[in-house]
Amino acid sequence: MQTALRTALPETELAGRANFAPHARVAREERPVQGSGLPLTIRGLRKSFGDNEVLRGIDLHIPAGQFVAIVGKSGCGKSTLLRLIAGLEKIDSGSISFGDAAVQPEDIRVMFQEPRLLPWARVLSNVEVGLGRDRASKDAHARAEQALTEVGLTDKRDQWPSVLSGGQKQRVALARALVSRPRVLAFDEPLGALDALTRISMQRLLERVWRDQGFTAILVTHDVAEAVALADRVLVIDEGRIAHDVVVNAGRPRERGSAELASLEASILSHLLSAEDRT
Ligand SMILES: Nc1ncnc2c1ncn2[C@@H]1O[C@H](COP(=O)(O)OP(=O)(O)OP(=O)(O)O)[C@@H](O)[C@H]1O
Ligand SMILES: [Mg+2]
Repeated sequence: MQTALRTALPETELAGRANFAPHARVAREERPVQGSGLPLTIRGLRKSFGDNEVLRGIDLHIPAGQFVAIVGKSGCGKSTLLRLIAGLEKIDSGSISFGDAAVQPEDIRVMFQEPRLLPWARVLSNVEVGLGRDRASKDAHARAEQALTEVGLTDKRDQWPSVLSGGQKQRVALARALVSRPRVLAFDEPLGALDALTRISMQRLLERVWRDQGFTAILVTHDVAEAVALADRVLVIDEGRIAHDVVVNAGRPRERGSAELASLEASILSHLLSAEDRT
């Protein structure tokens, strides 16, 4: 197993594991064209900021291609966990590994709540940024166009980000994350700032691209209805650990508002409320 790096790296959407082994480049030629999901195993993960002990022993295995949602009260360490997984933050102790694969920077991506587009670059160029070092390759344009098609924004390719709606900006950010065919895609409340209708249409889009591309998805959300609508499994973080690990067995496409999902949602909410009551 290859253990992820622990270097503190500048904040970037492209997970920045700087010292990927040189042999990873060789492995790259052999990987499937279609990015397939990587499994993720976390053991005894701890992280503190000063004397604030945020994560106090996270143990978790996510099989390749699973869609996991993470919920928990504000400040419980959800974003910290994502940033550790993406290599954007240094762990104190424990390990994070991605099966036997030679993990490369493009394999693990994070999409944030703010789209973080470059205002001086047109939509297509913003998507190309997601290619990282492949940006100079001959097929960069074609790959970026393909990613824009996947999010239904081909007609906006020559626009400036400033003329896009919030939902369209998030779709560009999604295309930028998808363009490198990530094998793990982590979302940190990506839909939190969208209106209810746009949010539902983005949820459907996320589910579709996840099904089409097979990456392992980790979604941090405050919206428990969103978690049960999208995920195979919902993790509740409390007091620095995974307090509940709830399997969502409902078939897909999911019927929003169904009795089955509503009852799961209610039970997860009650876990969250009891965590809140203790503070
Ligand atoms: N770079 C940092 N330096 C110091 N403290 C930090 C840093 N990043 C996070 N923290 C602290 O770690 C704790 C967890 O923060 P984190 O952002 O992971 O929470 P969260 O669960 O994502 O919350 P929210 O739901 O509000 O986004 C908080 O107490 C926060 O203040
Ligand atoms: Mg957060």
